[in-house]
Amino acid sequence: MKAYIHKQYGSPDLLNLEDVEIPVPGDDEMVIKVHSTTVNRTDCAMLRAKPFIMRFLTGLMKPSNPILGTDFAGEVKAIGKKVDAYRTGDRIFGFNDSGLSSHAQYLKISTQADIAKIPEAINFHTAAASLEGMHYAINMFNKFAFEVGQKVLVNGASGAIGNAALQLGAYYGLQVSAVCNTKNVEMMKSLGALEVFDYEKEDFTQTDSRYNFVLDAVGKSTFGKCKPILRPKGIYISSELGPFGQNLFYALLTPMTGSHKVIFPVPSRIKDSISLALKLLVDGKFHPVIDRVYPYHKVVEAFHFVESGQKTGNVVIDWNPAEH
Ligand SMILES: NC(=O)c1ccc[n+]([C@@H]2O[C@H](COP(=O)([O-])OP(=O)(O)OC[C@H]3O[C@@H](n4cnc5c(N)ncnc54)[C@H](OP(=O)(O)O)[C@@H]3O)[C@@H](O)[C@H]2O)c1
Repeated sequence: MKAYIHKQYGSPDLLNLEDVEIPVPGDDEMVIKVHSTTVNRTDCAMLRAKPFIMRFLTGLMKPSNPILGTDFAGEVKAIGKKVDAYRTGDRIFGFNDSGLSSHAQYLKISTQADIAKIPEAINFHTAAASLEGMHYAINMFNKFAFEVGQKVLVNGASGAIGNAALQLGAYYGLQVSAVCNTKNVEMMKSLGALEVFDYEKEDFTQTDSRYNFVLDAVGKSTFGKCKPILRPKGIYISSELGPFGQNLFYALLTPMTGSHKVIFPVPSRIKDSISLALKLLVDGKFHPVIDRVYPYHKVVEAFHFVESGQKTGNVVIDWNPAEH
């Protein structure tokens, strides 16, 4: 089978498309033919081992797992002796931010992993694009209590996390405001934003509106800048550590001081995220945005694009372009 191999940390140009053995399933494992996967920001962090702390997860000097990829949607091709919950031919998808080696034509996975069957009406590309951003968005909302009708502002609502956060906020009955660039303003409205700030034309932190929550889904702002637009007891939560890791420091300090709080959303409980993503997909409440679909031989190009920080929603890799 074909797989992208990275033997050292660095640029996407170090990725090589190589022939490797198709994995063989253990008793409680399955082999999946990958149809779709994404190149996401977690893959980029693993590719370059940036921030440095990634190395404690991915290998100190060089990558311990040479195949990247954190999500997949595909088809069960072989099952181990003790597998009874799945059959060959089942369509399944899954996510693990520690890595699933899904930048390959086939992968091996335990039946105990964070996976689920894909409903009939959902195609492979949509299934693959519904996981990473949504998992982190869910892990922002599940860190604080909220009430229907409260106001949330999502900065970077055109990104994978922001897009999912916008739709999740609308699903929870919050009044959602979005910050994005000019080309995505109409999309934000169609996904449920009641108010949109075009960051190319205005600075959302200068608004007279006040919010219960600011979700900085791209980490392009700071607590200091957003504090004036937070209501009393308002919360700032970011997907990034912030300048000099300040969000970690504020997360420890602000619960004891002042009327505003910073939360750093350490992600967990992937199975719960997949269950909710599945429910929202089936109910038509979540439409994962796909910016581009690259055929598998253009993964290097896909990484360069994702690293530019300008994707809208998700970038999908098609491992079987002839079949879709
Ligand atoms: N904490 C965690 O566990 C975790 C996990 C995964 C990712 N992350 C981080 O979360 C962040 C978001 O990830 P993602 O995949 O959602 O990102 P993404 O899809 O790459 O986000 C890109 C989007 O952000 C928009 N953007 C760029 N500059 C902006 C600005 N100044 N104001 C508002 N929007 C702006 C871009 O719009 P334009 O087209 O206008 O540039 C683009 O649509 C990344 O920084 C990533 O490293 C954190």
